Amino acid sequence: MKDKLVRFGVSLEGALLRKFDAFIGAEGYSNRSKAIADLIRKEFVSDVFARGGAVAGAVTIVYDHHRREVVNRLLDIQHNHGGIIISAQHVHLDHDNCLEIIAVKGPGAKVKELADSLKAVKGVKHATLSVTTAGK
Ligand code: NI
Repeated sequence: MKDKLVRFGVSLEGALLRKFDAFIGAEGYSNRSKAIADLIRKEFVSDVFARGGAVAGAVTIVYDHHRREVVNRLLDIQHNHGGIIISAQHVHLDHDNCLEIIAVKGPGAKVKELADSLKAVKGVKHATLSVTTAGK
């Protein structure tokens, strides 16, 4: 069931509001309501993540597949975190490099632990963790 929209007034310094309007314009928003709602949800997601609550997200890693011990280590880590991994997509970027996008859902602390473990593997050139809401 869709929740009813509620209007409320916000008072801001003029300079701050002008900066906000320029910012959301550049981000592609056509009105302030959606931009403010997104900012609020972003803060909620980061708060849930910081408290170890349930989040969803993606860990993205790039590594050199010629180093076989890297591949094995990455697989071991992923198998040890099977409970929070939904899927993994492997892309052969070029002759040397592989890109992996690992979709995750679970407690923020476990998601962070997985991302940190993958990032710390010698031979992983870059790793990012993107966290979003688990939908609640
Ligand atoms: Ni590959």
